[in-house]
Amino acid sequence: MKTLYDLQAPAKLNTFLHIVGRRPEDGYHLLQSAFVLIDWHDTLHLELRHDGQISREDEAGPGLPGRDLCVRAAQALQAATGSTLGVHIRLHKRIPTQAGMGGGSSDAATCLLGLMRLWKAALPRPALMQLALGLGADVPFFLLGRHAWVEGVGERLQALDMPPARFLVLKPPVGLATPQIFASPELRRDSETATISGFAALGPDHIYEFGRNDLQPVAQQLCPEIAQGLQWLSERGLKGRMTGSGSALFARLPDGAEANRGLGGPADDWVVRVCSTLQMHPLADW
Ligand code: C5P
Repeated sequence: MKTLYDLQAPAKLNTFLHIVGRRPEDGYHLLQSAFVLIDWHDTLHLELRHDGQISREDEAGPGLPGRDLCVRAAQALQAATGSTLGVHIRLHKRIPTQAGMGGGSSDAATCLLGLMRLWKAALPRPALMQLALGLGADVPFFLLGRHAWVEGVGERLQALDMPPARFLVLKPPVGLATPQIFASPELRRDSETATISGFAALGPDHIYEFGRNDLQPVAQQLCPEIAQGLQWLSERGLKGRMTGSGSALFARLPDGAEANRGLGGPADDWVVRVCSTLQMHPLADW
């Protein structure tokens, strides 16, 4: 019986993000977005505990709250499956937090997939997806394991074939809290509805230019570094955009551009990294 798993949890970028309305029952925002998986990973070490306890330690990176999304994911799965087993989670955080890159959601999804095997749990996929959605709107996407066209509040997913691409990703020292961005009265919530066929018709050279991020104007007001980062990219001939609710930015690198282009960033305390699209999530067939 396998009692230990070392698993990767990749980050995402939203190539565009439109808000098309709100869900009447809870005010959650209805969106349309393309989510792409990129090669920037956290690592989770999951070790079986026979005493039913769920514990977590941080291996590196910023200290997370004690009951972070991984722990909540494990608790929710334990409750849903009635498992008497537990887990010790060692988390090596590399994906910046409060960046709009889905790090916490991806960790939670990887934790769920790992625990399904570690605990030999038999939860049907639709129930697992529902449980994931209760943890956070982005978690179901990371369970799907493919680039995706995402609608609803994050639960309506269609796998997408996206052309391989490289991006310069920039994260300013300040992060942004998702609820604060969505709560803004200034937020545009009436974007026109797009179609996946219209999106795909743009072809490999232009598909990453589609649309805009409706959360970006609000984020820019709260975080002046975003304008600074966009300006810095534009001075290098790159068109930047924010991912998710920020504060990270990305710009597609032209094919053949040298990989270290612009490394350094607008200031010393920015995180800058060249990332590539993943073909698939490392756990896509789990
Ligand atoms: O689901 P998640 O925890 O990522 O969302 C954080 C907050 O962002 C929610 O509590 C909600 O206020 C807002 N949100 C939203 N509509 C979405 C996703 C998130 O209003 N589709």
